[in-house]
Amino acid sequence: MIKKRVAVLISGRGSNMAALIEAARDAGFPAEIALVLSNRPAAAGLELARAAGIATVVVDHAIQGPDREAFERAMQAVLEANRIELICLAGFLRLLTPWFVRRWHERMINIHPALLPAFKGLDTHARALAAGVKIHGASVHFVVPEMDAGPIIAQGAVAVADDDDAATLAARVLTIEHRIYPAALALLAAGRVTVVDGRCRTEGASGAAGHLIVPPI
Ligand code: GRF
Repeated sequence: MIKKRVAVLISGRGSNMAALIEAARDAGFPAEIALVLSNRPAAAGLELARAAGIATVVVDHAIQGPDREAFERAMQAVLEANRIELICLAGFLRLLTPWFVRRWHERMINIHPALLPAFKGLDTHARALAAGVKIHGASVHFVVPEMDAGPIIAQGAVAVADDDDAATLAARVLTIEHRIYPAALALLAAGRVTVVDGRCRTEGASGAAGHLIVPPI
């Protein structure tokens, strides 16, 4: 099997990155994490990646100055030099310009801690609690120029408990993130995802998933 070469782009702690690295250790996983790129030199995830034996690189947006495209051209050069085929954004806190996004059309995915299209943007868990939703979760989607939009590849849901606060809810959603991100990357890398009219179809995914009813009634 020829594995797709993946770069994981991070800005912080890198727990999703670590989940991707762990899953990709499996001989049958259709992608290899060839590079971890951070825009922040202090990102804790860089240490985790190095400890796992993954090549790391910092493209510091602060050094690149206010010119977004100069930063992105620097990233693009690194990605090309490493023969990267797919990008996973994993807590990467930079908005990307259409210039960069178009270059990676249907080859760049992101994980968002909410059931899109609900709760785009930041502070998703606090906003989900404020809205009183009973089911919350995470989404893996293709990146398009509009933030937190783009065809959804996979979603996972969790129950919201009456006594949840943003921290407990975030922790529960994170466990789902760590399951669905590697699974979605595997689908993409294996060529099992096609986008038709803005919706993803998954080849070979059959059977209905169970119900989640909250509260359990
Ligand atoms: C995750 O909640 C992810 O959904 C969001 O940013 C957070 C990153 O966490 N995009 P980590 O760096 O992967 O631990």
